[in-house]
Amino acid sequence: MVRTLEYDSDDKAISLDDFYEVCESTPIKRGEDLEPLSPFLHQLSNNRQFLSDYLCQYLKSFATLEASHSLLPTTFIPRFGKDYVFRVVVWPDNFNTIEKGQYNYLHNHDINFITCGYAGPGYKTDIYEFDYERCSGVMGEKAEFRFVESTLLTQGKVMQFTAGTDIHLQYPPEATSVSINVVQRERQMAVAECSFDSKTHRVNGHAVSIFAKDMMLHAIANFGDENCRDVLTQIARRHPFMRVRASAWHALMQAHPEELDQLAEQGARDPHLYVRTSVKQFHEGMTQYFGLCLAWPTGNEQGNFIVEEVQYEN
Ligand SMILES: [Fe+2]
Repeated sequence: MVRTLEYDSDDKAISLDDFYEVCESTPIKRGEDLEPLSPFLHQLSNNRQFLSDYLCQYLKSFATLEASHSLLPTTFIPRFGKDYVFRVVVWPDNFNTIEKGQYNYLHNHDINFITCGYAGPGYKTDIYEFDYERCSGVMGEKAEFRFVESTLLTQGKVMQFTAGTDIHLQYPPEATSVSINVVQRERQMAVAECSFDSKTHRVNGHAVSIFAKDMMLHAIANFGDENCRDVLTQIARRHPFMRVRASAWHALMQAHPEELDQLAEQGARDPHLYVRTSVKQFHEGMTQYFGLCLAWPTGNEQGNFIVEEVQYEN
């Protein structure tokens, strides 16, 4: 359940270096391990100088494209620590939001993190919780979740989110706002990070990073050689992150339709429900697809696309 921690606004401020030192000396192996960092994150929110110093530094390296950045817009990552990642997230208001995808969708996370309001009025968020172990996370699946509270991430307020369990929906703040986060560096490999339809409570999307991995694995499966296929098969069987295993099975099935059934059978033996269910869905989708067109484009020796006739039982 999301924990909200309120502190006195006249608390002292901490320097960014001292904050990093505390983070480095705190082993973060579980979500609960983030809790002792909450008062320090709050103290960092009282440091009114560190963000402009960092942004200035960032701008200087921006010119030479050396700045580290994330795939998600408006998220800065000033520090990758031993067990943690320190992030600064800018939340544009309604008028400045070009990409509205940041808001108005229910989602959970596969990371444990603490977040603190740093600047601006803060975004409003509706918080829910659910038993993620009962939801495999495949598209269309119904998830039973319970409303907990609506709250505002105001300056100095710290909230602790638990991977899997905590779901929230964020609204654009009244004015552009900033939050600062400490995220446990290790993702929770057995948690499905999903978005949900707010009316039907069904899973209707997955994390962007998974989509990017999906695309990469599909490209490799299609254009890599036998060595690539061996590695991809090892990933499908052994990767610790169940979403990556599922992506690898999908990629193998899509690139090798001549072995569709055997690959689906192997994927169906995965220990995680998400992998088993999504491999089954993918298999059914592929079977329907081939049932309709009975043809599959593959690369010829010159790397050009040709169309080969492929016969399937159904
Ligand atoms: Fe979120």
